[in-house]
Amino acid sequence: MSDTDTVEGLIQTLPKAELHIHIEGSLEPEMMFDLAQRNGVDLPYASAEAVRAAYDFSNLQDFLDLYYQGMSALQTEQDFYDLTMAYLRRSAADGVTRSEIFFDPQGHTERGVAFETVLDGIHRATADAETEFGLTSQLIMCFLRHLDEADAERTLDQALVRQDRIIGVGLDSSEVGHPPSKFKNVFRRARDEGFLLVAHAGEEGPPEYVWDALDVLGVDRVDHGNRALEDDALVRRLAADGMTLTVCPLSNQRLCVVEDMADHPLRRMLDAGLKATVNSDDPAYFGGYMNDNLRAVSSALNLGKDEVTAVMRNGFAGSFMAEDAKAAALAAFDT
Ligand code: ADE
Ligand code: ZN
Repeated sequence: MSDTDTVEGLIQTLPKAELHIHIEGSLEPEMMFDLAQRNGVDLPYASAEAVRAAYDFSNLQDFLDLYYQGMSALQTEQDFYDLTMAYLRRSAADGVTRSEIFFDPQGHTERGVAFETVLDGIHRATADAETEFGLTSQLIMCFLRHLDEADAERTLDQALVRQDRIIGVGLDSSEVGHPPSKFKNVFRRARDEGFLLVAHAGEEGPPEYVWDALDVLGVDRVDHGNRALEDDALVRRLAADGMTLTVCPLSNQRLCVVEDMADHPLRRMLDAGLKATVNSDDPAYFGGYMNDNLRAVSSALNLGKDEVTAVMRNGFAGSFMAEDAKAAALAAFDT
């Protein structure tokens, strides 16, 4: 049997693009402890095991509370470098050759860490990982939607100074009560300045938020999009637009967006002609990186080789790679 005769063989051997990863969500408890010690930060836990034991979430907000608390360990440029390099090393081992990485500057600037400290550390790691592992990355700066639009506008001003290092802007954090339309003006300005646009929508929020992301923000990709399946007209629209959805199976399970992985919407999305991709979201918090997500969802849904291959192709097709690099990456699937 060749490497590609089984779904597991495909997962192990095919190249992958990851389009939905929050770099702060790749902070493993062991590194959180090391960085906290290095920086003299007090964590309200006795050990890395105790941190992991606290990862029992009932919803998105439960997780976000710990996610923002964990960020307090990140202080210096070297911390952001180490964090990013650890994620990229893990991803390269999983066969990820392209990663489009979210970061949350407001989660750092609001506690006194400079925007440049965050961006410089993450960017330096992406440059080194390209040389060391051949993994190319781009950065997407997310606005925290629980904060107001004026705060997002100030963050966009900071990004404009280093626009050569940031390909797009996104929208994350507490979804319900904070529709995409709240950020209409800052997204329009980001588009005018040349950024690509993405937004979390339909993770916990209703289908109307996905409509909003499409029609009010004009996004190039939808992050999650699970609840779009509740609205047939929206599904038809997403299919007609060829819109990429960045789906995160282990995240959905751990945040109770799905009750059971066997009910995960990925198969229904593919059957409806949607361009669904698989991603890790916050791998340190949800129990797995790219290949763990692919394994979990393909075994729970009994996906076939064609479906798993389609998901991986969708990752490259929906990426923000330059057209020639994208065409080469896609051509590799045909051989
Ligand atoms: N920030 C980090 N992970 C997130 C998620 N899954 N949803 C919304 N905001 C996030
Ligand atoms: Zn996310």
